[in-house]
Amino acid sequence: MIVRAYNLTKTYQSPRGPAAALDDVNVEIAPGQFVVVMGHSAAGKSTLLGAIGGLLRPSTGQVYIDGLEIWQLDERTRAKLRAGKIGFVFQNASVIRSLTVLENVLLAATFLPKGAKAKAGRATSLIKTVGLADKADAYPHELSGGEKRRVAIAGALMNDPPLLLADEPTGDLDAKTETDVMDLLGRLNSEGTTVVMVTHNSDLRRYADRVLLITDGRLSEDAGHEGPSACGRIEETHL
Ligand SMILES: Nc1ncnc2c1ncn2[C@@H]1O[C@H](COP(=O)(O)OP(=O)(O)O)[C@@H](O)[C@H]1O
Ligand SMILES: [Mg+2]
Repeated sequence: MIVRAYNLTKTYQSPRGPAAALDDVNVEIAPGQFVVVMGHSAAGKSTLLGAIGGLLRPSTGQVYIDGLEIWQLDERTRAKLRAGKIGFVFQNASVIRSLTVLENVLLAATFLPKGAKAKAGRATSLIKTVGLADKADAYPHELSGGEKRRVAIAGALMNDPPLLLADEPTGDLDAKTETDVMDLLGRLNSEGTTVVMVTHNSDLRRYADRVLLITDGRLSEDAGHEGPSACGRIEETHL
């Protein structure tokens, strides 16, 4: 089991009083799964991803990554664990306009304990993986929205994370570029990366092995989900 979360709650303090964003969330995610977490705006999706990814401390509860309770670790150890195991694609992930594709991907590795040569090699290979080999030296204004998002995904993969957390990675993309990005996530998953993606778009459930639903901070399993459909990742033959 790669991720386990128990009794997670998160209450934000706001001027209007306390607001519950996560309400007793329990979930276990096995290695290799492609999990889509669906929910409306303000349902708690980003909060959940942040709590699981070691970026946002929950009010109560535990998160275990490969058996380590991440919120019991000191900040430094938690940051190290994040750098070693987790790739995070932020909501509306963006790129830096004054840097090339290659420089943007390298930027994501600034704090990784790797030599410059190893980083450059890894970045070049990831740029190829995300289908931008011929654009490594291009600047963001020469890229489409989907291509920019793929640069952000390449950056999140610099540490070769077994777990990729993606917060509405296609939220602001048109249908065609959304499909490109989803196909990329599907391919990374089929090559072994565990993917947890949150979205408000119910069309994207077709890519998932497993769908979780979040409503007002409460997480539930979509028991009726039957795995990726033909238009997702697996070609089906109809006799
Ligand atoms: N930093 C914050 N301070 C106060 N309330 C917040 C904060 N972040 C999120 N919230 C509230 O928590 C709830 C869940 O937010 P979020 O996890 O961002 O939802 P989603 O990603 O599903 O849109 C929302 O009601 C939101 O307004
Ligand atoms: Mg969000």
